[in-house]
Amino acid sequence: MGVEALFEPRSIAVIGASEKPGKIGYAIMKNLIEYGYEGKIYAVNVKGVEIKIGNRVFKSYKSILDVPDEVDMAVIVVPAKFVPQVVDECGKKGVKVLPIITSGFGELGEEGKKVEEQIVETAHKYGMRILGPNIFGVVYTPNKINATFGPTDVMPGSLALISQSGALGIALMGWTILEKVGLSAVVSIGNKSDIDDADLLEYFKKDDNTKAILIYMEGVTDGRKFMETAKEVSKKKPIITIKAGRSERGAKAAASHTGSLAGADKIYDAAFKQSGVLRALTIGEAFDWARTLGNLPEPEGENVVILTNGGGIGVMATDAAEEEGLHLYDNLEELKVFANYMPPFGSYKNPVDLTGMAGAESYEGAIKAALEHPEMHSIAVLYCQTAVLDPRDLAKVVIREYNESGRKKPLVVAIVGGIEAKEAIDILNEKGIPAYPEPERAIKALSALYRWSRWKNKQKSE
Ligand code: ACO
Repeated sequence: MGVEALFEPRSIAVIGASEKPGKIGYAIMKNLIEYGYEGKIYAVNVKGVEIKIGNRVFKSYKSILDVPDEVDMAVIVVPAKFVPQVVDECGKKGVKVLPIITSGFGELGEEGKKVEEQIVETAHKYGMRILGPNIFGVVYTPNKINATFGPTDVMPGSLALISQSGALGIALMGWTILEKVGLSAVVSIGNKSDIDDADLLEYFKKDDNTKAILIYMEGVTDGRKFMETAKEVSKKKPIITIKAGRSERGAKAAASHTGSLAGADKIYDAAFKQSGVLRALTIGEAFDWARTLGNLPEPEGENVVILTNGGGIGVMATDAAEEEGLHLYDNLEELKVFANYMPPFGSYKNPVDLTGMAGAESYEGAIKAALEHPEMHSIAVLYCQTAVLDPRDLAKVVIREYNESGRKKPLVVAIVGGIEAKEAIDILNEKGIPAYPEPERAIKALSALYRWSRWKNKQKSE
C-alpha cells in the first residue's frame, strides 16, 4: 500500500482532531462522519480530551502510538512545528499514508523546503507516503471518504479531480455539486513534496470507479515523469488539465503561490498534446469536457447528427461543429429516415430540424432512429424551450431512449430556455447524460471526446 491507502484505508486517524467548530481539525472529523465513512475513525489530540462531534463521542489519544489498532491513513492538522515529530510517530505506528493539511513549509522558501524534505525522508524511512503538505485533504466517494475541510456533500460520479490550488479546489468541490458533476475523487496535492500528479494518475488509471481525470496545475516538478505517465494513462482514460500560469506574469504568480517552476508555457502545450492530455483554458470548459469524457463511450466513427427543434440553435451548433473539425453526416438518402418524425416543412438535412412543433414523440422517434443507425456515430440533441414540450419531459425521453440503446454511442444535449430548461439539464446530468445550456458547449464537449479518441487510435496504429 502507499497511494492506495488514500482511497482505500481501513482506518483513519485525525491528528489534531478538535471539537471546536471553526477549527480545521473539527471540520475534517465532521466531514468524515457525515459523509458516512464506514471504517474506524480515531481522534488524536495532545490534550487527551473527549471529542464530541454531533452525537458522536470520540475518546482521543495523546499520540498516534496510543491508538490500539492499525491505522492506514493519518490526516495531520497540527501546527507546523509539531509535524516532524508527529510524522516520526506515524512511521513507528506503521501508518501508510499521511495527508498533511498544515501550511508553513516549502511554500515559505528555502528553510521550509528543508523541513519538508526532512519530513519526506522520515516518511520514506518507514515506507510511508506523504500527500501535501499545505492541502485541504482528500475525498473518495466510492468508499464514502471526505477527509477535507471543504463542503460535506460531494456528488458521487466518475471524475477524479486533482488540484494544486487549495482554495480553488475547495471552491470547485462546491461548484460541482451545484453543476451536478459527479466525482469519484478529489485530491489536494499542495506542495507535492512526495505524492505527485503522476502517482495519482497511476492509481486512477487502474481505478474502475474513475473514468476521467481533471487536473488543475500550476507546474510539475518532474516533467518527464508526468508526461510519460500521462501518455500511458491517456491511452486508457482521458486527462483534462487546466494549466495556469500561461502568461509571463501568471507564471510568476504561480511560482510564489505553490513554488511551481511554471516553465515556458509553449513547452507544456506541446508536451500535453504529445501525451494526449486535453488542455482547457477555463474551469467551465474543463468541466464541460469532463462531463462528456467521463460519461460517454468513444465514437465508432466520425459522423455526427444534430437533432433540433430550432433552426437558430441548429445553425449555431453547425458553426461550432465546423470550427471544431467535426464531420456532420450528409448522406441524404439515410437522413431521410428523420422525415418520419417531422411535419412536411421540416428539414431532414443535417442539422435535422424537427421544427418548433416537435413534441415528445418527434424527439423520441428521431433519437431512436439516430441511435439505431450504424452510420450515425454521435448525436447532439438540441432543444429550444417551447410550450409544445416541457424540457423535463424531453429529458425523460432522452434518458429512456439512451439507456434502452445501451449507451453505445456518444449523445450530448443542449437545452436553451428558462427554469424548466435548467431543471431538465440537471436531471440529464444526474443520470450521466451530458447536458448544457448552449449548443456550442455541447458540440465543443463532443469535440473534446473526438480529439482524445483520435489521439488514442493514432497511438494504437503507430
Ligand atoms: N498531537 C496531537 N494534537 C495536537 C498536537 C500534537 N502534537 N499539537 C496540537 N494538537 C491539538 C491542539 O491541542 C488542538 O486541539 P484543540 O482544538 O482541542 O485545542 C489541535 O491539535 C490543533 O492545534 P492548534 O494549535 O489549535 O492549531 P490550529 O488548529 O489553530 O492550526 C493548522 C493547525 C490548521 C494545521 C494550522 O497550523 C495551519 O497550517 N493552517 C493552514 C491550513 C491550510 O490552509 N492548509 C492549506 C489548505 S488549502 C487552502 O489554501 C484552502
